Order: sequence, then structure tokens, then C-alpha cells
Amino acid sequence: MDAAANPYTPGAGMVPVALVGRTGEIEAVRALADRVWNGLASRSLMLHGLRGVGKTVLLRTLQRELDAREWLTLSVEAQRDSDARGVARQHLERGLLAGARRLASRSERAGEKLRTALGTISSFSLSVGAGVSLGIDVQPARGRADSGQLEFDLPELIQDIAPVLDERHVGFAVFVDEIQDLETSTLTALLSAQHQAAQNQWPFYVFGAGLPSVPSVLAEARSYAERQFEYREIGRLDDPDARNAYLDPARAKGAGLTTDAIDRLVRVSGGYPYFIQEFGHQAWQIAPGPTMITGDDARLAADAGLDALDSGFFRARWQRATKAEQRFMRAMAVDEDAPSTLTALVDRLDKRKPSDLSVARRDLIAKGLIYASARGELAFTVPHMASYINRRHLDD
Ligand SMILES: Nc1ncnc2c1ncn2[C@@H]1O[C@H](COP(=O)(O)OP(=O)(O)OP(=O)(O)O)[C@@H](O)[C@H]1O
Ligand SMILES: [Mg+2]
Repeated sequence: MDAAANPYTPGAGMVPVALVGRTGEIEAVRALADRVWNGLASRSLMLHGLRGVGKTVLLRTLQRELDAREWLTLSVEAQRDSDARGVARQHLERGLLAGARRLASRSERAGEKLRTALGTISSFSLSVGAGVSLGIDVQPARGRADSGQLEFDLPELIQDIAPVLDERHVGFAVFVDEIQDLETSTLTALLSAQHQAAQNQWPFYVFGAGLPSVPSVLAEARSYAERQFEYREIGRLDDPDARNAYLDPARAKGAGLTTDAIDRLVRVSGGYPYFIQEFGHQAWQIAPGPTMITGDDARLAADAGLDALDSGFFRARWQRATKAEQRFMRAMAVDEDAPSTLTALVDRLDKRKPSDLSVARRDLIAKGLIYASARGELAFTVPHMASYINRRHLDD
């Protein structure tokens, strides 16, 4: 069918035409915003799940919900980098400046509270060294939020912004994707700022998304992190949602799928959003059309989709690993989709004890390819990775 109208969107962070199965999280954020509007506190959401389930897309959607309610929001990119700390601070600073401009533009005249907030944002910004001006006539508040240390500066910043936010019944939210990779001092500063905010009734919230390891990574950073968030596991779509994920985009383009086609495409996708988009995309490309994807089209699309996933989604991740790490993953793939115990891996890799595995284990976790699913157990972060390895790399 018409390639230019293909409504399926395989790709990291690609906003789907139909965002299905996530109403619970969206409703939760609306409820939080309603509570903040009423001057009440709430717990923010922390999304965790396997690769390709739609965490990034959902996190952005939640941010847009709050943007639409005129919250002050910004996003920080987590990365494992030598200057990760500096980069995170720069993101905060840039986001704040943009937010400050929006705050200021929404009022005719800057009142006392707004001037205080802007002054502190400006001094925080100067301390980052970027020296980007606010474009508004305010003096930086010397000695406020400008120590250069986020753990001290962030609470001061929030304290000085809170009165303006209260006046407008909105909050301040920082969004962090891949939060398991956030540099530790930035992470603890955010968690501790949120903790202080809760005690002082400042409307400040951290929203995050990341791998299944996120709850334990946060608990390790700050013991109270466990109680700070509403943790939501984002997973595959159930059968009715998966069907809609195929149907709704097609309908939006005046097209459809036969029941046969949907049955097959749902089955091969396992309900994983990324796979749904890939198989849907292939089916659309393959179907001669003009408006219906049939069972035959779906059968061809199942093969083409798997090929596309193998040479893209899976291979890109496989190639991120060194030879030794690939050997390690091959040993894990013996367990198919089930987690592998360290004892079994020691055996399969001809090692003597679990600690002989610690280097490969650590590096694969750092690369986001595996995670500790339980004590003494490892699992792939990529759904169906084991089948891919067994299909393509059994004897290389
Ligand atoms: N609720 C949804 N319904 C249908 N498709 C979705 C949904 N959420 C995400 N997708 C699709 O799934 C794919 C993956 O989305 P996204 O990049 O947000 O996943 P992720 O969990 O952040 O993955 P990663 O862990 O690799 O960062 C994209 O192609 C997107 O269009
Ligand atoms: Mg993502």
C-alpha cells in the first residue's frame, strides 16, 4: 500500500499514531496535576521495563500533559560519559531558562515572587558558566543556588520558585529518561531535592523511565527512594490492546486488516510495542492493497519483520558487546526467555566461581543489555534476545 501513508512507526522514541494501553499512567499524571492544583502533594511516576516497550514515548506524553497545564517542566538526558555531571547540569540550566521565559511571558508584569524566582534561576544559570541571559531585566540573586553543587543549589532553586508555582497552582517537574544511567551525584541531588520538597510542600517532582533495574538503582542511591515514587512496570500490551495497536493506525488512514491478519501479527509480536510497529510497517509495505491487509500479507510480513528486527533492533544491540560478552550472552540464551542463574553460567562458560563472571556481567549491565532480575540471576533487557541469538549466532 502507499508507503508514504504507512502509519506504523518502528524506531526508538517514535511517537505512535495510536498510543494504546497506557491510559492508567496518563490518568495518574492528570490526577497528580489536579492534586497539585488543589495544593496537595502526590507521588510521581517511575516507569521501568524492557527495551522497546514504549517508556520514552510514554514519558514524553506525560511531560506534554503537564506542559499543557502550564507546569514548569524540563528533561535531563542521562548518559554514561566522562562529563556526565556537567552535561546534566547544563540540561537543567537550559531547561530552566526556557521555563523561566515561559513563566515570565504568562504574566503582564513581574511581581515580587516572580522576580525572586527569576533572580535565583539567573544566578543558578550563571554558576553553570553558560552565562546565557534570561532576556528579562532581573538581577541574579547572588548567593542563591550558585554554589555549583547541585545538591545544595537545587533545593534553594525550588524553594525560590515554589511561591510563583503555588500562586499559579502548578508544579515543577524534571523528566529523566534512561534514569539508571544518570550520573550518581545528579541522581542523588534530584532524589534528595524531591525529598526536601515533600517535607516543605514545594511542588517539585521527578519523573523517570528506565530499565527493570531502576527500582534497585534508585534504592541504592537513596534509601527513601522506594517510598518517593509510584513505580509502574511498563510491559507488553495485552491482546485487545495489541489488536488496537494494529487496527487504529490503519483505520486512521482509511484502511483495515482482516481478523486472520491481526491474529497472526499479534502472535508474532508477542504484544511488544516495538515489534508491533515493525510487523505493522512490513505488512503495510507488502500488502498490494488498496486498503486491506490480509492473512497472506501478514504471513509474508511476519518473515520480513523478523528479518528487519534481526538486522536492526537485535543486531545493533548484539554488536555493542565484545566477543567475550557475546559468549556470555550466548550462554544466557540457552535459557531462552527465562532468566539465567549465575551457577548455570559458571558451568556453561567453564569458570570456577561466580566472581569469575563479574567483569563481563558488570560491563553488559553497564551497556544496558542485561540486568539482575533477582539475586544470583540475570536476564536480557531486550525482549526475545535469546531467540535472536539462538537463531543467528549459535555457532559464531
Ligand atoms: N503504547 C504504545 N502503543 C503502540 N506503540 C507504541 C506504544 N508505545 C511505544 N510504541 C512504539 O514502540 C516503539 C518503542 O518505543 P520507545 O522508544 O518509547 O520504547 P522504550 O521502552 O523507550 O525503548 P528503549 O528501552 O529501547 O529506550 C516505537 O516504535 C513506538 O512507536
Ligand atoms: Mg527509551
